[in-house]
Amino acid sequence: MNMNFFMPTKVIYGKGAVLKNREILRSLGEHFLVITGKSSMKNGSLDDVLEALEGKYVRIYDTTPENPPIELIPEICSEFTDTTDIDVVIGLGGGSPMDTAKAVAVLLDNPQLNVRDLYDATKYTSAKKIVCIPTTAGTGSEVTQFSVLTVDGRKMGFSNNKCTFPTIAFVDYSYTITMGRELTISTALDALSHAMEGYISLNATPLTDVLAMEAMKNIKEFLPRLLDDPESEYYRERIMFASMLAGMVIAQTSTTVAHALGYNLTTDKGIKHGLATAIFLPFELRNANTEKAETVKALFDGSLYRFYEDIGIKLNIDISDDDIEKWVKIVSTASHIRSTPGNYDIDTLTEAFKEVRDMFCSE
Ligand SMILES: [Fe+2]
Repeated sequence: MNMNFFMPTKVIYGKGAVLKNREILRSLGEHFLVITGKSSMKNGSLDDVLEALEGKYVRIYDTTPENPPIELIPEICSEFTDTTDIDVVIGLGGGSPMDTAKAVAVLLDNPQLNVRDLYDATKYTSAKKIVCIPTTAGTGSEVTQFSVLTVDGRKMGFSNNKCTFPTIAFVDYSYTITMGRELTISTALDALSHAMEGYISLNATPLTDVLAMEAMKNIKEFLPRLLDDPESEYYRERIMFASMLAGMVIAQTSTTVAHALGYNLTTDKGIKHGLATAIFLPFELRNANTEKAETVKALFDGSLYRFYEDIGIKLNIDISDDDIEKWVKIVSTASHIRSTPGNYDIDTLTEAFKEVRDMFCSE
């Protein structure tokens, strides 16, 4: 057996992780920039970070939008560099603040770069220290090297194994308890997509398979129960655990075609990322036509569509033939196709979008 596994992030996992381990966070530097959104004030995570960093120099950027545009990165950098030199950038929230933090950490450390150079990993090798603290359960960004930004209306990921993995991830499920039903579903489905895509990926290894299978089993078993009992700490913890495992999977395998397909529904129709991606998984599994895809189908009792029906997924959007034609062109050049089993020519991609329209957009 030959394989590589690289995940250099220190994971500090458990309820109260930030405050119980405040000395580890404090030891990273003197000047901290916290990148977050509004929800970190409601779920208690920002209070914990500020308490942990008492006496340190802390600046806060708290208006990170969903699907952050690339233009935001230099704006944040110029807003926070004139007062002091930042040592640590903390991404606190869902995927958007964490991915923004990674990009800001690179650009602050490499002020000579044009922001689009983030996508050329040969142009930089360093970043400010990155700390990620997820407050949703799904993105897994706290244990990956990836940052996904919106570039010219398209979601595009960059990464650099030398410097974009977080130094530390503090993973505390208790921040997710206040999430509403819709966000709980869409983020958990992102984790499911990471696990499933990673499991059937041509880049999968026996080690990523173990992590992916454990993540899928947890989501299959505990997401429906969590939706019936949203304040259950035990179910919240199971989904957070699955999300982190699935993040470790894609840090090795990358995502596959369902992510490339789903990005279009997010940028053009405003569908949340995890939901937009997961609806393509049944098609991807069938088109893969591999033994591993059959294993996944069996885990979901033969039909992922039934699982989606049980948790109540529906899209309130119209998809036109013109939309599909435009999206197929975009996906046909996506790197994700190379690691996805099965053929993905123009006809197959068109079929994928039409199937999703038939299954989720009908009256
Ligand atoms: Fe994702």
